[in-house]
Amino acid sequence: MSVVIITGSGGLIGGAAASFFSKRFDRVIGVDNDMRRHFFGDEASTRWHVEQLRGELPNYVHHYADIRDREAMERIFMEYHTDISLIVHAAAQPSHDKAADIPFLDFEVNATGTLNLLEFTRRHCPKAVFIFTSTNKVYGDTPNHLPLEELETRWEVAQDHPYYSQGIDERMSIDQTKHSLFGASKVAADVMVQEYGLYFGMRTGVFRGGCLTGPKHSGTQLHGFLSYLMKCAIHRTPYTIFGYKGKQVRDNIHCDDLVHMFDAFFENPRIGEVYNAGGGRFSNCSMLEAIAVCEMITGNRMDITLSDINRVGDHIWYVSDLSKFKAHYPNWEHRYGIEETLVQIFNEFRTRPT
Ligand SMILES: NC(=O)c1ccc[n+]([C@@H]2O[C@H](COP(=O)([O-])OP(=O)(O)OC[C@H]3O[C@@H](n4cnc5c(N)ncnc54)[C@H](O)[C@@H]3O)[C@@H](O)[C@H]2O)c1
Repeated sequence: MSVVIITGSGGLIGGAAASFFSKRFDRVIGVDNDMRRHFFGDEASTRWHVEQLRGELPNYVHHYADIRDREAMERIFMEYHTDISLIVHAAAQPSHDKAADIPFLDFEVNATGTLNLLEFTRRHCPKAVFIFTSTNKVYGDTPNHLPLEELETRWEVAQDHPYYSQGIDERMSIDQTKHSLFGASKVAADVMVQEYGLYFGMRTGVFRGGCLTGPKHSGTQLHGFLSYLMKCAIHRTPYTIFGYKGKQVRDNIHCDDLVHMFDAFFENPRIGEVYNAGGGRFSNCSMLEAIAVCEMITGNRMDITLSDINRVGDHIWYVSDLSKFKAHYPNWEHRYGIEETLVQIFNEFRTRPT
């Protein structure tokens, strides 16, 4: 029997991975305790998504278990043992801002939870491929020191800078920079995933996400930028932009594009590898540009407040360079741009059972 374990399976990435890999594996084991609801409140609950997966995927088995719970996690690994050939670890406390209110919980989920899964992989299925969803916040606010130019609707890196053509690559330092406590707990996990590869020879891959997006996100103010923005546009909820005149640029990768990256890595894995994984030059937008697209799709004028105060350590301009991944996996390419993704999010909100 072939088994994949997916943590955070109620979330955006875990859910997309569960749907995709259910066609490839005999059994998909999802782990998610709906902690997103605990972090962000009822509107962010991912239980609806878990129930949808249970209803739609006949080979999906769910555990409402906590990745911090070592006994519960080890029981799952012991049950399937070497039948497990892939672990997609996407459970997390995912918010930059939230982490400062809950530093212990943030670290225990993001860092210790990851260590638990790595160690049980080593003990019970050391040949399995282990995929970790890291973040561009491991680079801290170093990107804010790039030479940036202000354009009409966005900040942009100077045209003569090496990052102009493709974006930021994996060689940017993760040291001596302001990460936020979230970024720091993810650094701990990111380095540990690399270490289980480099030290034990395990097939571990770190994917440092830009903004991850897609229709099944349970968007909320503190996390899930495009999903929450579209929700506000549909319901005409006031939306506040924090700092940088709304011209801050994020690259956004559709969850299905990211899952295809995971699949390429699974098919041809490497040891302790690290990739930047965002929308890159193919799919990026500033806040102002994203608002304009939401207004066009919904036909609603958004109620926007522009605050002068930026979120601590927030990126002004971040675009991922995916050249390394593309060199290793030349058949992979982006498929979904900003506008198409926002249309999908809009359509999803009209049918979602929340
Ligand atoms: N969404 C983004 O923009 C973004 C950007 C960069 C990196 N990432 C990373 O990608 C991963 C997936 O992000 P997402 O957007 O799908 O997040 P998400 O919040 O939608 O999904 C995470 C899921 O993990 C679950 N979870 C949290 N703590 C848990 C615990 N202790 N035990 C079991 N389940 C738990 C939550 O209930 C949630 O359903 C995370 O590691 C996140 O840090 C996300």
